[in-house]
Amino acid sequence: MPTDRIPIYLAPLQGFTDAVFRYAFQKHFGGVKKFFTPFFRLEDGEIRRRELRDIELSIRLGNVENLVPQIIISEPNEADLLISTIKSLGFNRIDINCGCPYPLLNRKFKGAGILPYPEKLSALLDSLAKYSDIRFSLKMRLGMTSPDECLALVEIINRFSFEHITIHPRTAKQNYGGEVDLEVFKRFATLLKHPIVYNGDIIDTQQINDYYQNYPFISAVMIGRGILANPFLPMEYAETSSIQDKKSIFLDFHNTLLTTYLKYSEGGESQVLDKMKTFWEYFLPTFPHKNRKQILKSRTLHEYEGFVIIGVRGMD
Ligand SMILES: Cc1cc2nc3c(=O)[nH]c(=O)nc-3n(C[C@H](O)[C@H](O)[C@H](O)COP(=O)(O)O)c2cc1C
Repeated sequence: MPTDRIPIYLAPLQGFTDAVFRYAFQKHFGGVKKFFTPFFRLEDGEIRRRELRDIELSIRLGNVENLVPQIIISEPNEADLLISTIKSLGFNRIDINCGCPYPLLNRKFKGAGILPYPEKLSALLDSLAKYSDIRFSLKMRLGMTSPDECLALVEIINRFSFEHITIHPRTAKQNYGGEVDLEVFKRFATLLKHPIVYNGDIIDTQQINDYYQNYPFISAVMIGRGILANPFLPMEYAETSSIQDKKSIFLDFHNTLLTTYLKYSEGGESQVLDKMKTFWEYFLPTFPHKNRKQILKSRTLHEYEGFVIIGVRGMD
C-alpha cells in the first residue's frame, strides 16, 4: 500500500469555483495542488466575456499559480482563438473538457458528446499537436450512454501526450448521480499510458486513502463537491494533527469570499446576496438546518451575514 500522500486537485465547478472562490480558498485553506477553471467556450465565434473576466480577475488577484484554464471544443477550428487567448494571458497548460453532460453542448459533439465518435476525437486531438508550447490534459467521462465507449478511445488517446487524464467514471446519461463504474475505470485507466487522476464523489480523507490503496496507479485525485461541502478536506488530508479553530477559519474565508465579490462584482448587493446563497447548496453539511433555511430566505446582506455567523457558531 502506498504510504505517501497523493496530490489533490480542485475540480472545476461552473458557477462555484470561479476566480473569487479560488482566491478565498487559497487564502484560508491549503492542500490543493492544482486548480482548474470552469470551461471556456466560443459563442458565435467569440470567447464569452464572463469567462474572460473571470480569468482576468485571477490575474488581478495574483492568483494564477497552479491554475489550469479549461476549454470545451469539438472542432479543430475552434481551438485557435481559445488557445491563443489563453496563451496571451500567460498560461501554458490547458485542460480539454470531454466530460460535460449538458445536452445542448453534447448535441454539438462537445464535452462527453464527442466520446461516442472516435474519428471526431481523433481529428480534434491531432489538430492540437501544432500547439507544441502548450501542455494539454484531458478530463473525461467513460461515455455518453455506455461506459464501454471509452475503451474504443484508448488507442487514439495514447497517440497523444497528455500531462494527465482525469477520469470521472460515469456516463453523461448519469449526470452527477448514480454509481461510479470502478470496474470500467480500472480497465480503461490501466490501458492508458498517461498519469491518471481519479474524480468522483470523494467526500472524506478515508476515501482518498482507499482510492489510492485500491488504485495505486493514480497520480492525483480531483475533488469538487466534497471540497465545497468541506473546504477543510485537503488540509485534513495533508496534516497529521487536527485543525484548530475551524469556525473562525471558515468565517474568515466566508468574509473574504463576500467582500471580494462585493469589490469586483458588476452587479449590486442583491446580486452578490444571490451568489452567496448558491454556495449553501453545498457548504457545511453539519450547519444547522434552521439557519440554512434562514440564509436562503434572507433579503439583505446584513441579515444573511447574521445567519451565517449564528449558524457557524452553533455547529457541533
Ligand atoms: C455545478 C457543477 C458544475 C460543473 N462544471 C464543470 C466544468 O466547468 N468543467 C468540468 O470539467 N466539470 C464540471 N463539473 C464536473 C466536476 O468537475 C466533477 O467532475 C464532478 O462534480 C464530479 O466530481 P465530485 O464528485 O468531486 O464533485 C461540474 C459539476 C457540477 C456539479
